[in-house]
Amino acid sequence: MQRRLGFQTLSLLLLALALGATTAAVAHEAAPAAPSAPAEAAVAGAGTAEIATHGGAGDLPAPVKAEKAFDVKRGYTAEAARCIECHAKETPGIVEGWRLSRMAHASVSCYDCHVVEAGSPMASQCDGIKGTDIYTSPMVSVKRCAKCHPAEAEQFSKSGHARLASAAIMDNPDMEKLMYHFEGGEFLGNTLGTGPNRAARATGCQMCHGAETELGPDNKPINETWPGGIGQRYPDGGIGNCTVCHTRHMFSIAEARKPEACASCHLGPDHPNIEIYLSSKHGQMFLTHGEDWVWDSAPDTWEPGDYTAPTCATCHMSGIGELSTTHNVNARLKWDLVHKRSVIRSGERGDGEKGRVDMLKVCSNCHSSLHTDAIMTSLDNAVELYNTYYDKANAMLEDLREKKLLKDDPWKDPFQELFYYLWHHAGRRARQGAAMNGPDYAQWHGFFQIFQIYKDMEDIYNYRIKNNKIEELSPVMSTGPL
Ligand code: HEC
Ligand code: HEC
Ligand code: HEC
Ligand code: HEC
Ligand code: HEC
Ligand code: HEC
Ligand code: HEC
Ligand code: HEC
Repeated sequence: MQRRLGFQTLSLLLLALALGATTAAVAHEAAPAAPSAPAEAAVAGAGTAEIATHGGAGDLPAPVKAEKAFDVKRGYTAEAARCIECHAKETPGIVEGWRLSRMAHASVSCYDCHVVEAGSPMASQCDGIKGTDIYTSPMVSVKRCAKCHPAEAEQFSKSGHARLASAAIMDNPDMEKLMYHFEGGEFLGNTLGTGPNRAARATGCQMCHGAETELGPDNKPINETWPGGIGQRYPDGGIGNCTVCHTRHMFSIAEARKPEACASCHLGPDHPNIEIYLSSKHGQMFLTHGEDWVWDSAPDTWEPGDYTAPTCATCHMSGIGELSTTHNVNARLKWDLVHKRSVIRSGERGDGEKGRVDMLKVCSNCHSSLHTDAIMTSLDNAVELYNTYYDKANAMLEDLREKKLLKDDPWKDPFQELFYYLWHHAGRRARQGAAMNGPDYAQWHGFFQIFQIYKDMEDIYNYRIKNNKIEELSPVMSTGPL
C-alpha cells in the first residue's frame, strides 16, 4: 500500500484538478439545452447547492411531502434548480438520495442525467415541464454516464455484465422457450407477448440480466420491458445499467464495495456467490469486523488496512496493490465456471491466462504464494473433477439421443432434468464453492450431490438401454435436488 500511495495521491490530486476543470464542459455536452452547473460553480467544486429547509409551523411536524422546500440559490441554472425544487415535493425520496451523493457535491443534478435533446428517441416530458422546450427521459443509459465516466463505461462494456448479460435472455432461443413457452404459460394457453406471458421474465430474468426497453407512443417505456438489470438495452443504443451496484440516487462507491451490492443477483441455488462468500473465512471477517472497515477511500486507493479481508469487489474489481480498479469483472478470471463444461476463458469472455495472473496479484497482498498456490491448484483440480462428471454424463445423454431414448420435452424427462441439475445447480455450486473458499458449497451442496445425481442418471440410462424404451413416470421432483 505504502509503495504506491505516494504516487497515487499525486495522480489523484492531478485528476481532481483536471476533473474540476472539465466538469463544466462535460455538463454542457451532457445537457445541451442548459447546463446545470455553470463553470464557476463546477471549477470551484462548489459542492452542494444551498438548501434552505422551511419546516412546518411551530413544533408541529408538517406532512412529509410539504415539509421541505428546497430553495436552490446557487450552482445551478434556473432550469436545473426547478427540477430539484419541484421534485423535492413530488418525489422527496429521490431528491434526498441525490442530496447525499458525491455527484450532488460536484453539482451534477437531475438535469445532467435526465434531460435529453428534443430529437432523442427517448425524449418525453415529465408532468412538471409539459409545454416547455425541455425534454426529459426516465431512462438513463450507460451512454449518459459515459459522457463523464468514459473509462468505467468502456471497461464495463467489455465485461459479461453488459451485452452478454442481456444476450443471455434476449438473443437465445432456448431461453425464450423457457421464459415464454414454459414459465410464461404459453403451453397452458397464455397468448405470447401479453402482460401475463411476459410476467415471469419481467419479474425475474429481466431484473438481473436486463432486457430490451420498448417505448410507447409517448416515448416512455412500456410495462414489462423497463426497468431492468445489469445489461438493460436502451433506445439510445446504450447497453447496461450502472446503477445495479451503486444504486440511484446516491451512486455510492462505498455501497458498491460491499458484498451486498452483488448479492441481489449473485445468489440462490444456481450461483450462490453471496452464500459462499458469507460462509467463507473472508466473509467471517467481513461479518465480524466489517463495521470498522473504511469503505469510502478515494477510487483506486482502497487498500488492505482499510479492510483486513477482501469483499467481492476487492477480488473482482477494486484497485489493490499494483492492480488498478477495473469495471470489467472478467479481467481477473481464468475459468468459465458458469456454463456446462468449464474451459479457460477466451474471446469475449476474457483472457483466462492473464486473468489468473491478475487474480494471484490480489491474493499476494495478504497471503504467501505457498498458500495461494495450494488454493488455486485445488480449484484447477476441482474443475477437472467436475469436467469428468460432466463429460461422462454428456456421453450418456448423447447415446440416448442417438438411440431416440430422450423425450422431446426435456422438462418431462427425468434423465434430462437430472442432467440440468448436475451442471446448472450442483455443478456450479461445486466449482464456485471451490473458487471462493466455500467448503460447504464445494462439498455438501456440490460434489456430494453431483455424484448422487450422476448415479441416478446412470440407473435411468441403464434402464432405457436395457429395455429400449423410456420409463413411464418421472421419479424427479419438480424442484430438483436442492
Ligand atoms: C447521475 C445521474 C442521475 C442523476 C444526477 C439523477 N438521476 Fe434520476 N435516474 C438515474 C438513473 C440511472 C435512473 C434509472 C434509469 C433506468 O433504469 O433506466 C434514474 C431514475 C429516475 C426516475 C425514475 C425511476 C423512479 O424511481 O421513479 C426518476 C423519477 C428520477 N430518476 C428523478 C430524478 C431527479 C428528480 C433527480 C434530481 C434530484 C435525479 N433523478 C437525478 C440517474 C440520475
Ligand atoms: C413543477 C414540477 C416539476 C418540475 C419543474 C419537474 N418535474 Fe419531473 N415530474 C414532476 C411530476 C409531478 C412527475 C410525475 C411523478 C409521478 O408520476 O408520480 C415527474 C416525473 C419525472 C420523471 C419520471 C418520468 C416521467 O416522465 O414521469 C423524471 C425522470 C423527471 N420528472 C425529471 C425531471 C427533470 C430532469 C426536471 C427538470 C428539467 C423535472 N423533472 C422538472 C414534476 C416536476
Ligand atoms: C455531468 C457529468 C456526470 C454524469 C453525466 C455522471 N457523473 Fe458520476 N460523477 C461526476 C462527478 C463530477 C463526480 C464526482 C467526482 C469526485 O467526487 O471527485 C462523479 C462521481 C461518481 C461516482 C463516485 C461516487 C463516490 O461515492 O465517490 C459514481 C459511482 C458515479 N459518479 C456514477 C455515475 C453514474 C452511474 C452515472 C450515470 C447514471 C454518472 N455517474 C453520471 C460526473 C458525472
Ligand atoms: C437473481 C438474478 C437472476 C435471475 C432472476 C436470473 N439470472 Fe441468469 N444469471 C444470473 C447470474 C448472476 C449469472 C452468472 C452466474 C455466474 O457467472 O456464475 C447468470 C447466468 C445466466 C446464464 C449463463 C450466462 C450466459 O450468458 O450464457 C444464462 C443463459 C441465464 N443466466 C439465463 C437466465 C434466464 C433465461 C433467466 C430467467 C428464466 C435468468 N437467467 C434468471 C442471475 C440471474
Ligand atoms: C458490478 C458492480 C458495478 C457496476 C455494474 C458499476 N460499478 Fe462503478 N464501481 C463499482 C465498484 C466496486 C467501485 C469501487 C472500485 C474501487 O474500490 O476503487 C466502483 C467505482 C466507480 C467510480 C469511482 C471511480 C472508479 O472508477 O473507481 C465511478 C465513477 C463508477 N464506479 C462509475 C460507474 C459507471 C459509469 C458504471 C456503468 C458503466 C458503473 N460504475 C457500473 C462497482 C460497479
Ligand atoms: C443486477 C444484477 C447483478 C449485480 C448487482 C451484479 N451482477 Fe455480476 N452478473 C450478473 C449477470 C446477469 C451475470 C451473467 C452475465 C452473462 O450472462 O454472461 C453476471 C456475471 C458476473 C461475473 C462473470 C462474468 C462472465 O462473463 O462470466 C462476475 C465475475 C460477476 N458477475 C461479478 C459481480 C460482482 C463482483 C458484483 C458486485 C460488485 C456483481 N457481479 C453484481 C448480474 C449482476
Ligand atoms: C478472495 C477473492 C474472491 C472473493 C472475495 C470473491 N470472489 Fe468471486 N471468484 C474468485 C476466484 C478466484 C474465482 C475463480 C477465478 C478463476 O476462474 O480462476 C471467482 C469466480 C467468481 C464467479 C464465477 C465466474 C464465472 O462465471 O466463471 C462469480 C460469478 C463470482 N466469482 C462472483 C463473486 C461475488 C458475487 C462475490 C461476493 C459475494 C465474490 N465473487 C467474492 C475470487 C473471489
Ligand atoms: C485483504 C487481505 C486478503 C486478500 C486480498 C485475500 N485474503 Fe484470503 N484470507 C485473508 C485472511 C485475513 C484470512 C483468514 C486467515 C485465518 O483463517 O486465520 C484469509 C483466509 C483465506 C482462506 C481460508 C483458509 C485459511 O488460510 O484459513 C482461503 C482459502 C483464502 N483466504 C484464499 C484467498 C485467495 C485465493 C485470495 C485471492 C484470490 C485471497 N484469499 C485474498 C485475507 C485476504
